[in-house]
Amino acid sequence: MRILVIHGPNLNLLGRRETEIYGAADLATINKSLQTLAAQEGAAVECVQSNNEGDIVERIQQAKGAFDAIVINPAAFTHTSVAIRDAIAAVGVPTIEVHLSNIYARETFRHHSYVAPVAVGQISGFGPTSYTLALRAAFELVRK
Ligand code: DQA
Repeated sequence: MRILVIHGPNLNLLGRRETEIYGAADLATINKSLQTLAAQEGAAVECVQSNNEGDIVERIQQAKGAFDAIVINPAAFTHTSVAIRDAIAAVGVPTIEVHLSNIYARETFRHHSYVAPVAVGQISGFGPTSYTLALRAAFELVRK
């Protein structure tokens, strides 16, 4: 089983960025926990981060046939990107949307996600645990 994890813009700054909202864990720590979980499940996980919308669109396009599911935190692009939404819809690789913070408990501009309608589901508000919950959900999804 192969799962692609995509981290969107500014998530490279985790651990140094608004830690009262996003917590103290950095991206390397989160990725390591995902690799540990994947190893336990006998799955392969590739983690990528980009601050660039076009890069993320290309990664999603390339996932077709190469990955069984995508876990994505589109970060700020969640609230702006029709292109990322369309890429997910186009490739048809089952996708789970993740957020560290509870986007519905924050500013109203974060309440709308362009990605949510084309995702299998969304996990929001559990800090780094959002990612491990999403990865477990991806495993179940692919196994079914
Ligand atoms: C985020 C929430 C977004 O609103 C924000 O732009 C981010 C991170 C989260 O993980 O909580 O960059 O996706």
